[in-house]
Amino acid sequence: MSDTSVPRAGWDPLVRLTHWGTASAVLLNGVLVEGDGQAHLWIGYAALTFLGLRLIWGLVGPREARFSAFRPSLARARDHLGDIWLGRRVTHRSHNPLGALMAYTLWALLALVVGTGLMMETGAGGDLEDLHSAAAYLVLLLAPIHVAGVLFEKLRGDGDVIRRMITGEKRE
Ligand code: HEM
Ligand code: HEM
Repeated sequence: MSDTSVPRAGWDPLVRLTHWGTASAVLLNGVLVEGDGQAHLWIGYAALTFLGLRLIWGLVGPREARFSAFRPSLARARDHLGDIWLGRRVTHRSHNPLGALMAYTLWALLALVVGTGLMMETGAGGDLEDLHSAAAYLVLLLAPIHVAGVLFEKLRGDGDVIRRMITGEKRE
């Protein structure tokens, strides 16, 4: 699946919107806004919307954004580690295999966070606050590791990795 000669375009607008929207919601609700106010709920619903849109986009969006372009695979993650170890650069059409594992882990945790949040709100869930905050703090723990991975890719030679997620353009 990896390809050494694919020209890479930037991420499409929906991937970029949902990425920065989700990241902002996580930082706001996880760090700044207490769980017992109205603001937490609105930011939480925004996070739910971004996550839902992105997951639908994974089925119907452009090729690079589809789950089929970055299937979770431990075998490919191991090969990817081997590439890193040998200093070999391979361009991946979508997320690289380690990045894909991180994306699925973050999405699964976020689904748990918003799912338990909703259940607490509707009264269906009883006492889910511990699960809700544990999952949220796990996302907050993984986020800097994710950013470290992105910076590592940049240092390894993919100079446009962050630009593709911001402007959707790659440098000429
Ligand atoms: C980005 C998504 C979210 C994150 C990162 C997040 C994070 C947190 C954290 C860390 C806590 C425990 C500490 C505190 O009270 O501040 C909490 C509490 C809570 N959250 Fe969330 N949350 C999110 C989304 C939601 C959603 C979607 C809902 C409901 C629709 C929700 C409802 C609640 C409720 C009811 C509490 C308990 C408040 C209390 O009684 O003190 N959260 N959240
Ligand atoms: C709480 C904060 C964050 C969360 C939860 C998060 C989550 C994610 C997720 C789920 C993806 C997969 C995107 C998709 O396919 O839709 C992703 C990709 C990405 N994120 Fe983040 N992110 C966060 C913060 C950041 C920050 C601060 C940066 C800035 C350096 C960043 C840079 C990127 C880049 C460049 C990609 C694409 C990597 C690639 O080309 O494969 N993220 N992030």
